[in-house]
Amino acid sequence: MTVAERFALAGILSHREPRISIEIGTLNGGSLSIISKYSEKVYSIDPNPEVKDNLRKKFENVEFITGFSQKVLPNLINELNKKEEAVGFVLVDGDHTEEGVRKDIEEVLNYIPMGPLWILMHDSFNPDCRQGIKAVDWESNRYVQWIDFDFIPGFLSSIPGWEDQMWCGFALAYMEEKGREGELKYDELLGRQFDQVFPISSHAK
Ligand SMILES: C[S@@+](CC[C@H](N)C(=O)[O-])C[C@H]1O[C@@H](n2cnc3c(N)ncnc32)[C@H](O)[C@@H]1O
Repeated sequence: MTVAERFALAGILSHREPRISIEIGTLNGGSLSIISKYSEKVYSIDPNPEVKDNLRKKFENVEFITGFSQKVLPNLINELNKKEEAVGFVLVDGDHTEEGVRKDIEEVLNYIPMGPLWILMHDSFNPDCRQGIKAVDWESNRYVQWIDFDFIPGFLSSIPGWEDQMWCGFALAYMEEKGREGELKYDELLGRQFDQVFPISSHAK
């Protein structure tokens, strides 16, 4: 994540201090260190068993779930709905394929919010992830109040080994327990830049 993204993550979390957060995709615990600091309890989902082995002693308020989100997230969401637990924050940063991103978000949208819920989706400037985010039928979920596809901008990379790839960026969706009145509000600040950058990126080849 970029420095701007880390600030944005800390900004949302420190402002809301969620009772429960969920992180899909943890790796070395970079984003988890911020989520854990501001949440009462965090569920971390990652298929790599080393994530739990390496991080469980470092984060006492985190329950590590080892598995692919497609398998373990439906159960978690069901349990949280049943127990009426107040989830206030979700980070989607696991499977980066179009289908993987879409399915993760669709599963998160099966949660019935008990209050404000922020869904932050990483790599919204990456073509596959962006397609996945945009393929979700956001409109049909009455708890979603608005969505910003470019809350934090991504970039065309010149990082060695990642040259000409489009990465980073945060999309942000906001849900509330009260159903939406009127149409869903969409923001897409970087729509034009995305279309201009894509043809010169390595993704177009
Ligand atoms: C980009 S890294 C996450 C980085 C982390 N959020 C951070 O910023 O510090 C992606 C992680 O997602 C995990 N992952 C891949 N497919 C997944 C899936 N289907 N469900 C959950 N996690 C997945 C990978 O094992 C990897 O650790």
